[in-house]
Amino acid sequence: MQRAPTKNKKLRAWVDENVKLCKPDKVYWCNGSKKEYQELCDAMVQSGTFIKLDEKKRPGCYLARSHVSDVARVEDRTYIASAKQEDAGPTNNWTDPVELRKKLTGFFDGCMKGRTMYVIPFSMGPLGSPVAKIGIEITDSPYVVVNMRIMTRMGKKVLKALGADGEFIPCLHSVGAPLKEGEKDAAWPCVPDPANKYIAHFPETREIWSFGSGYGGNALLGKKCLALRIASVMAKSEGWMAEHMLILCLTNPEGKKFYVGAAFPSACGKTNLAMMRPSLKGWKVTCLGDDIAWIRVGQDGRLYAVNPEAGFFGVAPGTSKASNPNALKAARKNTIFTNVVLTPDGDVWWEDMGVPPPAKGIDWQGNEWTPDCGRKGAHANSRFTAPAKQCPVIDEDWENPDGVPLSAFLFGGRRPSTIPLVNEAYSWEHGVFMGATAGSETTAAAIGQAGVLRRDPFAMLPFCGYNMGDYIAHWMSMAGRTQRDKLPRIFFVNWFRKDENGKFMWPGYGDNSRVLKWICERIEGTAKSVETPIGCLPTEDAIDIKGLKKFKADTIKQLVAVDKEGWLKELQSIEEFFSKFGDKVPPALKSELNSLRSRLQK
Ligand code: OXD
Ligand code: MN
Repeated sequence: MQRAPTKNKKLRAWVDENVKLCKPDKVYWCNGSKKEYQELCDAMVQSGTFIKLDEKKRPGCYLARSHVSDVARVEDRTYIASAKQEDAGPTNNWTDPVELRKKLTGFFDGCMKGRTMYVIPFSMGPLGSPVAKIGIEITDSPYVVVNMRIMTRMGKKVLKALGADGEFIPCLHSVGAPLKEGEKDAAWPCVPDPANKYIAHFPETREIWSFGSGYGGNALLGKKCLALRIASVMAKSEGWMAEHMLILCLTNPEGKKFYVGAAFPSACGKTNLAMMRPSLKGWKVTCLGDDIAWIRVGQDGRLYAVNPEAGFFGVAPGTSKASNPNALKAARKNTIFTNVVLTPDGDVWWEDMGVPPPAKGIDWQGNEWTPDCGRKGAHANSRFTAPAKQCPVIDEDWENPDGVPLSAFLFGGRRPSTIPLVNEAYSWEHGVFMGATAGSETTAAAIGQAGVLRRDPFAMLPFCGYNMGDYIAHWMSMAGRTQRDKLPRIFFVNWFRKDENGKFMWPGYGDNSRVLKWICERIEGTAKSVETPIGCLPTEDAIDIKGLKKFKADTIKQLVAVDKEGWLKELQSIEEFFSKFGDKVPPALKSELNSLRSRLQK
């Protein structure tokens, strides 16, 4: 066994305890070096987990194919095991922590037999930043190790920062597939029965235990489990915010910068917006993060955001030269692809990549595939894991340990009707109401039916580590932590309106810069706008649509109109949603609902 390269007693004891429990053949402490990464990738090529892609076309890139049962986050197997059920709230799966520990201890007993246990020290947030949090993930998956090296700052330097007495968040993970002596390993070991996968969070003790899945947010525990679910609990008690938000910087033609945090549910285009190429001349977008923002009140009273991650775990299908040329460039080298098509020349392909499909290829399940075979080649939730620093428009401040000051928050979702293209809140409380009532059609990012409307407050429904009612109250309370004029302005956007033929009405992608321009003008006080019952909307001529081809001026009228009937229905559905939370609904939220109703009925 390798000697523990740390003097941290708590860490050594925790690792020892789990070695005894999981019974791995070997223990390996990750140092985070390039050499280590390469050796693990080579070993995975040998074992059949990875396929090396063509070195000229995709230098340093690999393809993995998951087990068919292990393709997305498993929300119904994700638990917030707080001591009291009320603290998990009505939108989380709760289970008694004592029972769950007992059950999972049974599962973890001997689960790493025949495998290596990897110990991954990682930092969420730039190392040494006052806001960074250290986690240690124990895993038996080399796929997890190499993904964590892209997604976080990991290795020796983290142990150094942890020191002998530093605190860390323990994250225990196993694919749950012990090997008998001489047994051949699967290319993607996991627990195939979904009922035996567990993504468990113990908020009081700030621990994460994940069993049975090797995929994305189920297994890369720094991301959703630590940086959102556990961090949201810490944020509430320490007075900051852990949000499912991209962070971008918009620079106007005069060179003025506006930092924006935007929350959209999974697979609603956060990565595309985060690194968008504006279609408007003179405007520039640079990217600080595409998924998570940690936000605190800075010394000057403004809200400062830091991206705790170091990479992108982006949805592949739909990523094209037209939708996100910068993501394609970020994923050109040193990238891990999961569940996409392998082309005969050793490259990758996915649906809506904007390039013709290969005449034949190998699909995400490893079967021969042709474009006319009637099956999709890539899984709808197939992903690329790419280093953030490879993004051509990465912002110069993306690793600034203090973060960047936000001018605006955006909320949104996939809403085919009713919700206008853009709408500004009248106040912080109205904005919190907008965030709390956000809804979206579900997507393939989680197992379950896609395309049904679900309320997803602040896009945090699957990621909030405590009672969503208390979380909304925490958002409300941020107004009391600084002066009102220092708070970011709040907007609701909807790129996904459809016409009566089911066609998208707004071109989206780079043309969303036209909406961002209006938002900046609102902040500057120069925008044309009109006060309506639902919020402050652009006037019909306020959105710059110059040069937009095949776009009728009449369409913009529809996109910024108030659909009164639709909103009255919306109110009903919001009220039903709020009733889930009983007395946890903050009074300020109820009062926003009542004000909206009376404005609509006037
Ligand atoms: C993600 C998600 O992977 O939200 O970012 O599902
Ligand atoms: Mn996400």
